[in-house]
Amino acid sequence: MSDEIEDYLNWKLAGRIDRRDFLKLGVSAAGIALVAACGGSNTVGPTGPTGPEFKLGVVLPYSGVYAELGNSITNGMRMYFDSVGNQAGNRKITVVTADEQVALADAVAATKKVVEQDGVDMVAGYVSSPNAAGNRNYLDGLKMPTLIANAGVNSLSRAAKSPFIYRTSFSNWQPSHPMGTYVAEKLGKKKIQLVYAKYGAGLEAVAAFKETFTGSGGTIVGPDVATPFPNNGDQTPFVQAIQTDKIDGIYCFMSGTDAVTFLKKAAELGTLKKLGLVSGAGFFVEQDVLAAITDAAPDGAITGLHWALPLANKENQDFVSKYSKKFSGRQADVFAVQGFDTARVIVEALNAVKGNTTNKDAFMTAIAGVSFKSPRGDFKFDATTNNVVQTIYVRKTVKDPKLGWTNQVIDQYPGVADPGK
Ligand code: PHB
Repeated sequence: MSDEIEDYLNWKLAGRIDRRDFLKLGVSAAGIALVAACGGSNTVGPTGPTGPEFKLGVVLPYSGVYAELGNSITNGMRMYFDSVGNQAGNRKITVVTADEQVALADAVAATKKVVEQDGVDMVAGYVSSPNAAGNRNYLDGLKMPTLIANAGVNSLSRAAKSPFIYRTSFSNWQPSHPMGTYVAEKLGKKKIQLVYAKYGAGLEAVAAFKETFTGSGGTIVGPDVATPFPNNGDQTPFVQAIQTDKIDGIYCFMSGTDAVTFLKKAAELGTLKKLGLVSGAGFFVEQDVLAAITDAAPDGAITGLHWALPLANKENQDFVSKYSKKFSGRQADVFAVQGFDTARVIVEALNAVKGNTTNKDAFMTAIAGVSFKSPRGDFKFDATTNNVVQTIYVRKTVKDPKLGWTNQVIDQYPGVADPGK
């Protein structure tokens, strides 16, 4: 039996094609057989894909502390889907979005909306760790194919791993674990105070840093500066809690507007200039933050991340220039790359299964097998953690004559995989 007919029967058996959808297909079973007989596999007619629509539910923050991150991820997805004509595996891809916001209750409501009202075939998104973790059981219980496009919560690559949930971004451990070694051994900074947004992602990031930093002879100088999340209030007391006279520097996890308001206040109070080292997970000084703070940027900050704007590889140069053309001069950031890669994984997996997603295990196997050259470098999944294996770049914040404030790559740790436990 040809693949087309088999796919068609599978959809029908699974009740996925009602009469209306069937008529929309515009072909009879005999027509399909004819196409197949002509050797057409994955056939897309001149009028576009003929299979049923593939609905993707995107749950991302479009308001609150991480709104910029949600917008960038969405832009990156749009850019990749547009590049393939919004279709794959002979199915038209339709995206429906819902606002993750900040609180878990809102992220749960957004997930239920796309699943139960919009009837999506797949879910992608989640920026904040508690929101990804808090939707995990619901998505896993439904066997809903899901790609996490940002949230780094370690447990999704460890005890709470699900065969239906893969991550295209990072685990919170990944960017920070190599940085402890780098700061202690390569930079020779041995007394560091930790500064972080006090919630899952901040706690996991600084814990990973601390492990390698103290393992390399470094000392954490307390007390930690742990800010509320999200941190909407006056930053002064938190900035003043940095003990500039007792430390060699700080290691930070903050992102979005938390990083923007904190860094602005630290620049205004002259604290940044008194520090021998500002270091952290790269989100702290990622392009979204630098665009908002401009000259309040911590010049020379050293951070770890899986991407940097000036990365020289061809895929990145292409991505960066097309992104800014498509989005009216807006510079790409790591979140846009994650969105772009997430869309690519979906498209390649849909092509691999020829659009048949009724067998969820087979679709997840196709997802797991996707690998390609991303703007961040080689992209592939690690079978033991359902998470991407990738290079962590050590970056230095500089004001580049062409790019403006950005992060230059000064070193790298290739093939960093979450330990899975
Ligand atoms: C997270 O909550 O996992 C998170 C949020 C923002 C980031 C990175 C991680 O930039």
